[in-house]
Amino acid sequence: MTQDQAILVVGGAGYIGSHTVRQLVANGKKVVVLDNLVYGHPEAIVDDEVTFIQGDLGDRPLLDKLFTEHNIGAVMHFAAYAYVGESVTEPSKYYQNNLAAPIILLDAMRDHGVEIFIFSSTCATYGNPQYVPIDENHPQNPINPYGASKLMLERVLADFSHAYGLKYAALRYFNASGCSLDGQIGEDHNPETHLIPLVLEAAAGTREHITIFGTDYPTPDGSCIRDYIHVNDLARAHILAIDKLSEGAESFQCNLGTGIGVSVKELIAAAERVTGKEIPVVIGERREGDPPELVAAPAKAKELLGWEAEYKDLDMILKTAWAWTDGPKKGHYS
Ligand SMILES: NC(=O)c1ccc[n+]([C@@H]2O[C@H](COP(=O)([O-])OP(=O)(O)OC[C@H]3O[C@@H](n4cnc5c(N)ncnc54)[C@H](O)[C@@H]3O)[C@@H](O)[C@H]2O)c1
Repeated sequence: MTQDQAILVVGGAGYIGSHTVRQLVANGKKVVVLDNLVYGHPEAIVDDEVTFIQGDLGDRPLLDKLFTEHNIGAVMHFAAYAYVGESVTEPSKYYQNNLAAPIILLDAMRDHGVEIFIFSSTCATYGNPQYVPIDENHPQNPINPYGASKLMLERVLADFSHAYGLKYAALRYFNASGCSLDGQIGEDHNPETHLIPLVLEAAAGTREHITIFGTDYPTPDGSCIRDYIHVNDLARAHILAIDKLSEGAESFQCNLGTGIGVSVKELIAAAERVTGKEIPVVIGERREGDPPELVAAPAKAKELLGWEAEYKDLDMILKTAWAWTDGPKKGHYS
């Protein structure tokens, strides 16, 4: 893509998308956001220069109009349904939105000559880890329709790349975390299932307690271990990926994580430190499908993009999230 072209951010009113939009604008990029607001928040787009279009990524006439009216050089695709449990009970909804609809978007890109695509993939494409840290050569055997829908779109991208010359990056995020440093935008999912906002709500007193699901895992303290990667680090990797593909690099897949494992108990202790509040804890049963440990091997992103996480300190990540939960909006848009 060239300097004068805009980047289309699909799902840009959501959590990770909105943080990326801010970073794109700060980097002097032109941005068009497409979001149907099924889960997104228009208030999460704070920069006036961003063009916001409310609509669905599977709406072909809308896409034709958008690609005709705006000079788009690349697409970042954040829009998806991402509730693992719901994907098990309503797989059709997940394959429609996470697989079928993006194929309509990819076809529209092809017809309008847009060749660069950055995809929000996930560590859920690996399934139960056979070893940790998980590198990109780890087998991909997702254990739920959410992970399967993401892996299938990765496969579609590989085939489109081979047949039509699409240039793509499939970025496999581990656990997205944290918020903008000024607390102006943040994570507001409804329902919320992510551990950090739930722990911080318990600290703020807007949630009675936090439940630890399983304390008998084969980990040092018995609770599950995850890799928390800050949204600003994710956003930076997306921008680097566009630059890399624009310079002529081949399509690629890579993990985005810190490489540092944090247990649920460690996270709660850190949240108590950062907030200065005592967090009420309830011990629950293990949840089906929760692997004991998910930690990224992040070397490939460093090698390809020169990227590594800047937010490696858990307290720093939690401070940014607390600035949102304890800020003027109390962790929620209107
Ligand atoms: N949050 C995480 O920890 C995490 C981890 C791994 C991967 N991911 C992936 O990253 C992406 C972003 O995650 P998030 O937490 O920001 O999610 P989010 O729900 O906050 O954002 C997704 C946005 O996409 C929009 N959207 C959904 N379907 C749409 C459609 N058909 N047309 C137009 N807009 C649509 C929603 O309204 C929402 O604003 C998702 O694809 C998710 O699967 C997230």
